[in-house]
Amino acid sequence: MALHSVNKPKKDQFPDAYSGRISLQDGSVYKIPEVSNDPKSVKDLILDELLLDGNAKQNLSTFCQTSLDDQIHEIMDKSLDKNMIDKDEYPQTAEIENRCVNMLADLWHAPESESTIGCSTTGSSEAAMLGGLALKWKWREKRQKEGKPTDKPNIITGPVQICWHKFARYFDVEIREIPMEHGRLLMSPEEVLKRVDENTIGVVPTLGVTFTLQYENVKAVSDALDKLQKDTGLDIPIHVDGASGGFLAPFIHQDVVWDFKLPRVKSINTSGHKFGLSPLGVGWIVWRTKEDLPEDLVFNVNYLGGNMPTFALNFSRPGGQIISQYYNFLRLGREGYTAIQQACSDHGQYIAQEIAKIGLFDILYDGKGGVPGAAWVLKEGVNPGFNLFDLSDRMRMRGWNIASYSLPSNCEDMVIQRVLVRHGFSHDMATLMLEDLKRCIEFFKKHPVASSSDADDSATFQH
Ligand SMILES: Cc1ncc(COP(=O)(O)O)c(C=O)c1O
Repeated sequence: MALHSVNKPKKDQFPDAYSGRISLQDGSVYKIPEVSNDPKSVKDLILDELLLDGNAKQNLSTFCQTSLDDQIHEIMDKSLDKNMIDKDEYPQTAEIENRCVNMLADLWHAPESESTIGCSTTGSSEAAMLGGLALKWKWREKRQKEGKPTDKPNIITGPVQICWHKFARYFDVEIREIPMEHGRLLMSPEEVLKRVDENTIGVVPTLGVTFTLQYENVKAVSDALDKLQKDTGLDIPIHVDGASGGFLAPFIHQDVVWDFKLPRVKSINTSGHKFGLSPLGVGWIVWRTKEDLPEDLVFNVNYLGGNMPTFALNFSRPGGQIISQYYNFLRLGREGYTAIQQACSDHGQYIAQEIAKIGLFDILYDGKGGVPGAAWVLKEGVNPGFNLFDLSDRMRMRGWNIASYSLPSNCEDMVIQRVLVRHGFSHDMATLMLEDLKRCIEFFKKHPVASSSDADDSATFQH
């Protein structure tokens, strides 16, 4: 018999996530290890740790897409190395982005959709910055021509998502945010007119207000600004924040007039990764015409011997999300988008109806005419033994993530609970969620909360 010497494997060579060096080492997880580790073990450890994150299907707080089909996974995988800014190396990705801009311009009734201008962004926040900058530049150009001061620009919004506060602070613009009032939770034409002056760079209505999911009335605001122009000569442009609504209204609320059909609407942003049904990391902005985007905001990069204009806050960015957006447009068509958004909207309305039947809540948003979902408050004067923060906390025990938060000024005293319905959520899931909610309420009946949570203890994600 041949002689074999036995080499005992060293512990750090044994590729097992739970007994290998990587899981036994007692080092800091905040420092890069000195030595390399077995790749599969490392991946297993990381994926296991990520189980501590919430379950996306039960996350009824986020607007962002969490349901993506196998084709999108494959497209994302195959596009991992595509840098969308490198138009020379990836001209077809650039062409696909261009096609998406054209499709959105057409969807939103741009007068010359084939020759207008727009771009992808990382999301609605970056798109809002670009839209706001274009408004500021246009306003400044006009004021300079008139020999008037340009040091006090302001922008008028309803109760907006934080991105507009960022825009205002980062780019030195005063934000005149119309506060909510009891009985009026949205921008109204009258409130806009109270704030408008010669330094107003634009008005931003939101199609799908983050807090309440309702659409602001773009047409009414536009009509009021038309009259203002007739009376005073002030010509104030509108940018629509259609983060959610830009992908909803064209399919399921076709009677709402909000887009480039209104000549005063100069630009629109939306999130591809919300109701555009694309993976996280893509937004869009489109201008009504080329002239609405000031030329000196645009940088030209050489592209296949020609010039490619770009307008962005970032430089390198992944191309996969844009390609997935294009896939969605081709795969779903108007028919598919309509079916999906309508189903989500129906589930939201069903949830609102069932919540109303419980008897403890007043419905603030019944799921109709805005973003798919529902929102409610506790009825005044009832003491069910819990508050909405307690209810959100207890729903977490079954994995449901349901946002509760106080409204912004001047309605901070109103605490609301909100669910968002996205693609990938069924009627059955809605029923199961409602049964869990009722069980939680029964629990609180038997065990009223002695010391309730408040917004600080129980902050839930609401953007
Ligand atoms: C109305 C509105 N605008 C802008 C944003 C920011 O969008 P994003 O997360 O795509 O940057 C959101 C996010 O929820 C939103 O609801």
